[in-house]
Amino acid sequence: MPSTPALRASTLLLISLLGSFLMAASAGNFYQDFDITWGDGRAKILDNGELLTLSLDKASGSGFKSKNEYLFGKIDMQLKLVPGNSAGTVTAYYLSSLGSTHDEIDFEFLGNLSGDPYILHTNVFTQGKGNREQQFYLWFDPTTDFHTYSILWNPQGIIFSVDGTPIREFKNYESNGVQFPKNQSMRIYSSLWNADDWATRGGLVKTDWSNAPFTASYRNFSAQACVWSSGASSCGSNTNNNAWLTEELDSTGHERIKSVQKNYMIYNYCTDAKRFPEGLPFECSLA
Ligand SMILES: *[C@@H]1O[C@H](CO)[C@@H](O)[C@H](O)[C@H]1NC(C)=O
Ligand SMILES: *[C@@H]1O[C@H](CO)[C@@H](O)[C@H](O)[C@H]1NC(C)=O
Ligand SMILES: *[C@@H]1O[C@H](CO)[C@@H](O)[C@H](O)[C@H]1NC(C)=O
Repeated sequence: MPSTPALRASTLLLISLLGSFLMAASAGNFYQDFDITWGDGRAKILDNGELLTLSLDKASGSGFKSKNEYLFGKIDMQLKLVPGNSAGTVTAYYLSSLGSTHDEIDFEFLGNLSGDPYILHTNVFTQGKGNREQQFYLWFDPTTDFHTYSILWNPQGIIFSVDGTPIREFKNYESNGVQFPKNQSMRIYSSLWNADDWATRGGLVKTDWSNAPFTASYRNFSAQACVWSSGASSCGSNTNNNAWLTEELDSTGHERIKSVQKNYMIYNYCTDAKRFPEGLPFECSLA
């Protein structure tokens, strides 16, 4: 076949269209969506951007953050946590804005001795104020396979899910005077670091550096989200195509949260009366 300039040009166009189609169709690409922020080579993007690993040794941990800032989103990531003796290590995976009055939505995974359970620690900060911890054991070993950890953050509330099972809800009770994160854009952050002064059995079990480097892995990031850029939202005012923006738990969802909380929750700030001698936070009476 003669290769005319026009034919070459249309072939190139086809290739580039195909390229952008493949980009859009593939699950998030870590090169495209994230920047490694620290760790001096300990954080790595592998497999053409499909896998990211963080590692921790005695000298340093490591971390990454999203290129985009989001103001509301439904964000999924699959994590496989540090296996074996991970006592003393913390893998933090969270959304956060900046500054002293920042908002934050946290998953933190507190490591443990081989065979002892990780703790999944969650928290919500609004305008710089947290103290809203709930902690859970998981119903699986989070170190042998990837599992999906999701945050749905929309104007109605925040829902934390694990493999599609909701485990915690922080509803928007602004009308009752409880602050809700809704006017500060957040990035996704993750880091693997040493916190053996508090992480495992309250700091009793220290990190065993003979097991270093410790490694946690990430894959299959996906965000249905409003990207915030130069003071504007990519969602504009059109919420028709964004079912997640109005998604709330139905009665089945509430039943599932209740069941997880009954069977796996090990700490709830809302029942820690000792900690709040002046009374439990107001949202606890509304839940
Ligand atoms: C964001 O909302 C909070 C109330 O939830 C308010 O105190 C704060 O001033 C607002 N910040 C901006 C930048 O609008
Ligand atoms: C570690 O295992 C101990 C013993 O089962 C348990 O009490 C603790 O909650 C576990 N998790 C952490 C992070 O300490
Ligand atoms: C990747 O995530 C999507 C949803 O975010 C899910 O449908 C798909 O099954 C996941 N892929 C793997 C390999 O788990």
